[in-house]
Amino acid sequence: MSSPQTDPKVILITGASSGIGLQTALDLLHQGHIVYGCARRIEMMEPIRAAGGHVLALDVSDDDSMCDAVDEVIHSEGRIDVLINNAGFATYGAVEDISMDTARHQLEVNILGLARMTQLVLPNMRKQKSGRIVNISSIGGTIHTPLGAWYHGTKFFVEGFTNTMRLEVEDKGIYMVLIAPGFIDTGFSAVLSKELDHNEKERAYKPLYDGLRGASAAPGSSPAVISAAISKAISDVKPKTIYRAGKYSKLLYVLRRLLPHRMFDRMMLSMLK
Ligand SMILES: NC(=O)c1ccc[n+]([C@@H]2O[C@H](COP(=O)([O-])OP(=O)(O)OC[C@H]3O[C@@H](n4cnc5c(N)ncnc54)[C@H](OP(=O)(O)O)[C@@H]3O)[C@@H](O)[C@H]2O)c1
Repeated sequence: MSSPQTDPKVILITGASSGIGLQTALDLLHQGHIVYGCARRIEMMEPIRAAGGHVLALDVSDDDSMCDAVDEVIHSEGRIDVLINNAGFATYGAVEDISMDTARHQLEVNILGLARMTQLVLPNMRKQKSGRIVNISSIGGTIHTPLGAWYHGTKFFVEGFTNTMRLEVEDKGIYMVLIAPGFIDTGFSAVLSKELDHNEKERAYKPLYDGLRGASAAPGSSPAVISAAISKAISDVKPKTIYRAGKYSKLLYVLRRLLPHRMFDRMMLSMLK
């Protein structure tokens, strides 16, 4: 655990009701920062309130909800130093099986929610001439796994969006940072398995669905590993453009860079057998 900060920052973190977001909110509070945890399930953020943090209801697929959350922090604190765009989930299933409504919701939450929250904090950060926007991508923003087309699409977007924005805002004192977690033990795999059950229709893909159910049950790293990477992204004087952490994050990144596409595909498919 890092020691308390001498320079407390006002931090808004989305998806703070579970997993990486909840752990990070608690660790940042422990370091002395002023933390606003945001999510739909407000009752699950009680530990943040108990640790001296603030909690706000937020649905990142609802524009009014996003505007209200950002306004509330600016109104109370006069500033937002750090936005952590962490809210997200994985819609998994064969592309043939996934309805466009389901796909649209995946894009709303993982892409448009992150982009809109970013847009909302920028005017203030630009006035302050400082700020950090920490976007939670995934090893899934570099690699591809069976039945994950929509989810991977969102994380490839997060990486392209964040890297592009760096060219717009770094000269204004605003750092854009990516975090690429590997496999982490959170509520993520329960949501993923619910998505698989909900989406599975066409029998032709059954072996992939069954394989993925087995593979996604394997244990991952603790969310504390990602929280530590996020803390570094906030405290490093000049943050790296991307922090990779958690089970398989660095290994799969290197393999993806080294192996030709079809060899990587075979390796991925063999993990589901
Ligand atoms: N766990 C992994 O292996 C892993 C790996 C790579 C990347 N990631 C990324 O890490 C981030 C956090 O996921 P996690 O692993 O901590 O999973 P998690 O435990 O399921 O937490 C997901 C969080 O996202 C929030 N969320 C979902 N939909 C939302 C919405 N419409 N509006 C506001 N908040 C919403 C949830 O809050 P409510 O439901 O209460 O709103 C929850 O707090 C995600 O972006 C995920 O893609 C996770």
